Amino acid sequence: MAKHFKISLGMRDLAELQKLHSSKWLRYPGDVLPMHVAEMDFEVDPGVRAMLTEMVANSDLGYLGPIPEAAEAFVGFAQRHWGWTPDAAQVRMTTDVGVGVVEVIRALSKTGDKVIVTSPVYHSFYMWLDELKLTIVDVPLLPEDNEWILDLAGIEAQFAAGARFILLSSPHNPVGRIHTLAELTAIAELSNKYNAYVVVDEIWAPLVFGEQKFVPYLSIPAAQRRGIVVTSSSKAFSLAGLKAAIIVTQNQEMFEELNAMPEANHWRASLLGGFAMAKCFNDGDKWLAETMAKLDHNRKLVKELLAKYLPAAKYVIPESTYLAWIDVSCLGLGDSASDLLIENNKVAFNPGTEFGDQFGAYIRLNFATSPEIIEEGIKRLAS
Ligand SMILES: Cc1ncc(COP(=O)(O)O)c(C=O)c1O
Repeated sequence: MAKHFKISLGMRDLAELQKLHSSKWLRYPGDVLPMHVAEMDFEVDPGVRAMLTEMVANSDLGYLGPIPEAAEAFVGFAQRHWGWTPDAAQVRMTTDVGVGVVEVIRALSKTGDKVIVTSPVYHSFYMWLDELKLTIVDVPLLPEDNEWILDLAGIEAQFAAGARFILLSSPHNPVGRIHTLAELTAIAELSNKYNAYVVVDEIWAPLVFGEQKFVPYLSIPAAQRRGIVVTSSSKAFSLAGLKAAIIVTQNQEMFEELNAMPEANHWRASLLGGFAMAKCFNDGDKWLAETMAKLDHNRKLVKELLAKYLPAAKYVIPESTYLAWIDVSCLGLGDSASDLLIENNKVAFNPGTEFGDQFGAYIRLNFATSPEIIEEGIKRLAS
């Protein structure tokens, strides 16, 4: 495993990881290798850890007050990474991306409204929309040449039939694809034509591989009238437990419409999370670049290891995220593949059906871990 060594630096071994308190490490018995929930196994950026340690040491753990630093840091990050300068005055805090999306849609919808999702898509979207008692309308991505593109004609048909929202994951969890400028511009134009809201979850946006270009939805002028982005540093910098995210608009009318959200949205974010987000967006570029190098290695390693241990599996190297969306129909395990793999092979992946009923052929594997753990996971998958 010599070639794995350098890339494993900053990684903890399995025994250390098993002492962690997060859902990833507590959900299954200790003999199951967890490769499901989207948390990284890497150590958090040392600068962020030092800041948090100091806050804890100073008993600096009160409520979150005004935090212009978070909006300003996001603007700086957007400029450096995407060449886009959002208006910081239209960035608001919220607890996490889940709460942000729910509160945005709650403020703009009434019970039963139709919301378009594009399966296979992040499983919590279904939960959030159920919580709001909204009607989910699925317009699946088109898996053309393994590209998983938006079905614009299908989306237009649903807007024409009365859907009032579309909820997008961009970059897309679980397929790891980045919607193109042309696709997103088309969505923006449709939303204007049909007076529909476009809510875009951009939590994965900092995790885009070098050769790719991420398009922030609100950088498209046509998107600004009816578009709302919810995002955070929590996924890219592995801080999900800290609870802080932002809701971004870029149109004054849209911003004011969202004044219908409870003011408490802000106060329900955590102090540690808010300041950690500002720190990541301001000073996290070096750590992020190192992390992307590891993830770049790992996304290709998954391909090599599947070719070695399970050549009939189908996997397209993602453009973003640390998620491998793998067609394992070759195992002949049907929709229960992931349950059987946990029980018999002691390895946990997300079942494809979480992302849409028709995706039982797939599993989702989290490769934000060491090459050794990835190899062990894929061996268990294939055994
Ligand atoms: C697309 C997407 N949105 C949101 C989340 C969760 O974000 P938060 O913990 O801020 O609610 C995840 C977590 O994996 C995700 O993949």
